[in-house]
Amino acid sequence: MSIKQLAIYIFFIEANSAKYTPNWKSLDSRPLPPWYDQAKFGIFIHWGVFSVPSFHSEWFWNYWKLQKIPDVVSFMEKNYPPDFTYADFASQFTVEFFNPREWADILQASGARYVVLTSKHCEGFTNWPSKYSFNWNSNATGPNRDLVGELSSAIREKTNLKFGLYHCLSEWFNPLYLSDKESNFTTQDFVKVKIMPELYELVSKYKPEVLWSDLCEKKGPASYWTSREFLTWLYNESPVKETVVTNDRWCDVCLCKHGGYHTCTDRYNPGTLQKHKWENCMTIDRRSWGYRRNANIEDYLSVHEIITTFASTISCGGNMLMNIGPTKNGIIMPVFEERLRQFGSWLKVNEEAVYGTVPWSHQNDSSTKAIWYTMRKTDNDGTVVYAILLSWPAQSVLKLFEPLATPDTQVTMLGYQGKFSWIPGLEYQGIYVNVPMIPWNKLPSQWAWVFKLTFIDN
Ligand SMILES: *[C@@H]1O[C@H](CO)[C@@H](O)[C@H](O)[C@H]1NC(C)=O
Ligand SMILES: *[C@@H]1O[C@H](CO)[C@@H](O)[C@H](O)[C@H]1NC(C)=O
Ligand SMILES: *[C@@H]1O[C@H](CO)[C@@H](O)[C@H](O)[C@H]1NC(C)=O
Repeated sequence: MSIKQLAIYIFFIEANSAKYTPNWKSLDSRPLPPWYDQAKFGIFIHWGVFSVPSFHSEWFWNYWKLQKIPDVVSFMEKNYPPDFTYADFASQFTVEFFNPREWADILQASGARYVVLTSKHCEGFTNWPSKYSFNWNSNATGPNRDLVGELSSAIREKTNLKFGLYHCLSEWFNPLYLSDKESNFTTQDFVKVKIMPELYELVSKYKPEVLWSDLCEKKGPASYWTSREFLTWLYNESPVKETVVTNDRWCDVCLCKHGGYHTCTDRYNPGTLQKHKWENCMTIDRRSWGYRRNANIEDYLSVHEIITTFASTISCGGNMLMNIGPTKNGIIMPVFEERLRQFGSWLKVNEEAVYGTVPWSHQNDSSTKAIWYTMRKTDNDGTVVYAILLSWPAQSVLKLFEPLATPDTQVTMLGYQGKFSWIPGLEYQGIYVNVPMIPWNKLPSQWAWVFKLTFIDN
């Protein structure tokens, strides 16, 4: 082999190794851009025409016309004239109080490192002026604004959050989709005329760094959706090829298997360490992702419940994507804002145990279900283990059964001055920490506390 041949050969290998090809083996081998695992926490926003009835959930149209759920059908009969259609809701999606810079402030205060907005839910209404969604988009009717564009600009100007977009491949009532489905997905008109053009448009125009794909009904093989071809473009050529992360909802059987990180099911929270990076998407209103006017206070997760979910999620290697549903007027209601700010205030004290940490060899402590661990390796303090306590110790000794101490181990609490004395547990397994009486108002948090253990042996 001559030098020239060798050079060409090396060039060929390098050019090839950087490129992904449209098959799952190749696409699934792409390493996730590291920012995503470090971020741990994002905010999901469900906003669309469904925010107008704001009753039952974002599946309102489907429940009304397809599944004919009784309370949705009778809600329409009681409150609207008989000829009222779902499309008539669009003009009431007025967003007159939508101030993307205020949203950006609230999202930043929550401690989230990324945000994912619904660019289009299963109803098919695009929150940006898509060329491929004539008359059924936020510029042509309702807001008469580019909601995706405005939020992406505010987020990028005012915060350090990554901007992401949710996009639903299927649409319940799109005639092209219905006829493709009728053909058992042997025709592809909907994908060719609508879905792929709008998806390329969306990514090229707004450069989302999270692309959260969804399917309203888990139907259609990857060959129908051309998801592999799209992802190949996304990873090789798109303007976000270096930084974009995506999920696993790209075909009828992709869930928990193919794509980027795994979402598996809504509110996925396995409670054990997972091999593949995953995300727990959950919602503050336990019963809906879209705004519900008739939600009760008990329907909203408390901040303690949020921290509980978060601690178990990140201990097991997941990220948490927590949803809020703004109103049709463009308001993040005070109950959502309060939860976001409360959780953000907790994160601010305890961020060292969160961002950039990795799962430890143990996820929770066998002494109680209310302690979850994270870990980081440091130059100065050796292996640092963080024990997230979801309840304050009832006794003056906190028994942690899993960590193995060294003579150099020190125990502190994030947000609190001073060290705690400790002794090794029985047979040198575990650490027994002396917890003095601390007045409630001197504790760094009301909800959950992080004990930091340095120079741990395991
Ligand atoms: C949005 O709507 C306005 C008013 O109808 C129109 O002039 C403008 O071209 C539209 N923008 C896009 C990007 O389609
Ligand atoms: C639809 O296509 C799938 C996969 O190609 C096949 O297994 C199934 O039998 C088909 N169903 C009908 C009703 O043709
Ligand atoms: C604690 O960890 C064990 C072992 O990984 C696991 O089986 C269990 O589900 C976890 N506890 C909770 C409350 O999830």
